[in-house]
Amino acid sequence: MKIHVYEDAAKIGKAAALIFAAKIIEKPDCVLGFATGSTPLPMYEALVELRNLGLINFSLARTFNLDEYAGIDRSHEQSYYRFMFDNLFSKVNINPENVMVPYPVSANPDDDCKAYDATIDAAGGIDLQILGIGHNGHIAFNEPGYVFPAGTHIVDLSDSTIEANKRFFASADEVPRQAITMGIGSIMKAREIVLIATGRGKAEAVSAMINGEIDPMCPASILQLHPAVTVFLDKEAAALI
Ligand code: F6R
Repeated sequence: MKIHVYEDAAKIGKAAALIFAAKIIEKPDCVLGFATGSTPLPMYEALVELRNLGLINFSLARTFNLDEYAGIDRSHEQSYYRFMFDNLFSKVNINPENVMVPYPVSANPDDDCKAYDATIDAAGGIDLQILGIGHNGHIAFNEPGYVFPAGTHIVDLSDSTIEANKRFFASADEVPRQAITMGIGSIMKAREIVLIATGRGKAEAVSAMINGEIDPMCPASILQLHPAVTVFLDKEAAALI
């Protein structure tokens, strides 16, 4: 695990965007894994800037998002599908047909989960994945538990996650209780991972991820076993490592 501590979130966003830009230049038809939430926003802004400067071309890139709320429509202003179009996809020259955000659509959501993993495999696997981390150590929506879930699955959101995400909704009651998420196995199959954490509120989770035991009670701790993880932290998030 390579760990870099930067001054602020904007600098981290630029540094992380350059890793994604390098991947797109090296392999124009690369498969990118994207996340939502506040943390990757500076990186998406920096990617839009690089595109506006004509330095990167998304036209052949394919993307897979980590997760999506269950029970809200894709047109909902808090859906992750919409988040990605609002913050990145509508601002760069990506082909909307190459964009995948998981979404349970059939009567049997387990089939949708298996289909999502099969689509990632058929695309050749994820070359480069961006991750944030939850206050409870979750990555994607893999919440603390007794096992590391392997594939894409439906998950009940923890109280900690509902509390953290209520800032995007009118109240905690409106936060969906379930989500579809890539599993830990799906994430660990990515060839390269960049994880960003900013703010003092992430310091405990970051410390458990880096210095703690590999334990599904801190899902991000599994990243200690991945051969190519780069972690970008600001000073607050790095306070306890
Ligand atoms: C979002 C995701 C989540 C977030 C995490 C941190 O797609 O997978 O794991 O990365 O909840 O969220 P923020 O960045 O809002 O603090």
